[in-house]
Amino acid sequence: MRALDALYEAHKIAFSPFVFETAYTMLELGVLEAINEAKSGLIIEEIAAKTNVSEYGVRVLVEMAESAEMVKSNEEGKYTVTKIGYFILRDEMTKVNLYFTHEVCYNGLFYLKDSIVNGKAEGLKALGNWKTIYEGLSQLTPDQKKAWFDFDHFYSDNSFDDALKIIFQHQPKQIFDIGGNTGKWCIASTKYNPDVRVKMFDLPGQINVAKENIGAIAEIKDRVEFQVTDMLDPNSEIPGGADVYWMSQFLDCFSEQEIEAILLKIKKNISPEARVYIMETFIDNQRFPAATHSLVATSLYFTALANGNSKMYSSSAMKYIVDKAGFECVTEHHLHEDSFHTILELRVKK
Ligand SMILES: C[S@@+](CC[C@H](N)C(=O)[O-])C[C@H]1O[C@@H](n2cnc3c(N)ncnc32)[C@H](O)[C@@H]1O
Repeated sequence: MRALDALYEAHKIAFSPFVFETAYTMLELGVLEAINEAKSGLIIEEIAAKTNVSEYGVRVLVEMAESAEMVKSNEEGKYTVTKIGYFILRDEMTKVNLYFTHEVCYNGLFYLKDSIVNGKAEGLKALGNWKTIYEGLSQLTPDQKKAWFDFDHFYSDNSFDDALKIIFQHQPKQIFDIGGNTGKWCIASTKYNPDVRVKMFDLPGQINVAKENIGAIAEIKDRVEFQVTDMLDPNSEIPGGADVYWMSQFLDCFSEQEIEAILLKIKKNISPEARVYIMETFIDNQRFPAATHSLVATSLYFTALANGNSKMYSSSAMKYIVDKAGFECVTEHHLHEDSFHTILELRVKK
C-alpha cells in the first residue's frame, strides 16, 4: 500500500464512528431508501422533499456517505446508491450487525479501554446496572431487545435445520439445552421429533420468556421442562439422564477457565454414551473475511458490554479446553456452505 493510501485508511479509522452513524441515520430517516428508489438519481432538494429531512440534514449526510462510497453523485448533483449503499440497505447480515452495534454496543464501547484495563465489562453501565448483560436481557428497552435478539437469532437460526439432522442421528430421547434463551431450540427439536423431551437450563429472565413462548404451543409444551440454573454458580449442577447436551452459541459467553468449569459440571453426572454438542461460529472456520470481521468485533462486545472476559473462539482453542476438561471431540461437523457454524461432537474420554 502506498503511504498516501495508508494515511487515508488511517483517517477513515479515526472518523469511523461518523461514517457508522451516517449509515444508521440514513437508514432510519429513509434517505438511503429514497435515493435507491429513484433509479436515475435525486438532487439534494428532491431527497429533502421526499424524506421530510431538512436540506441541511440531507447535505451533511450525503457528503459523508459519498466520501464513504455509500452513494455517488454525477455532474448534475444527482445522487445514486452504490453497491456498498445497496448492501447497507438490503443485506440482512449487515443490517443486523449495524442495529446491534447502534442499539446495544455503541455507548458502552466508549469504555473499551477501561474494560481491557480492569478486565471487566465497564460499558455495561450504559445499558443497566447488572453483573453481566445476560441478567438484564429481559429488561432492555424494546429497541435494544429487538437488536440483541435479531443479532443472536440471525446467527443461530440459519444453522438449526442442519444441526437437527446431526443431533438426531443418534435418536436421542432426552436433550438438555443449556443456555436455551427464548426456547427456539426447544421448539425446533420437539417439533422435529414427536417423541423427544427437552429440558432447558438458563437464567431466570430467559426461562420466563421461554416458558411463555413454549406454553403457547400445544403439541410440544408437555415435552419441555425448565430449570433455572446459573452455570457460573459453583454449587449449581447439571443432572445426568440426557442423551444429548446441546450448547449453541453459549460457551462464547464465558472465559476459558469458566468453559472448562462448565464442561466439568456436565461431566460430573453424564453417562458414558451421551454426546455433548457445541455449536459455535469459530473465527478460524469462516469462508468470508466479512464473517471473520463480524466475529472479532463481536468479541469486543463481550469485552466491553457482556461480561468482560469472553470472546469468539477459534475451533483449536475450544478443542484444547474440551480436551483439558476430559472430553474427546469425535467429530467436527461443518454445516452447509453458507453457514457460519461448526458443531463439535464430544463424548467423555474413555
Ligand atoms: C448468546 S445466547 C445463546 C442462545 C441460544 N442457545 C442460541 O443458540 O441462540 C447465550 C445464552 O446463555 C445464557 N447464559 C449466559 N450466562 C449464563 C449463566 N451464567 N448461566 C446460565 N445461562 C447463561 C443467556 O441467558 C443466553 O440465553
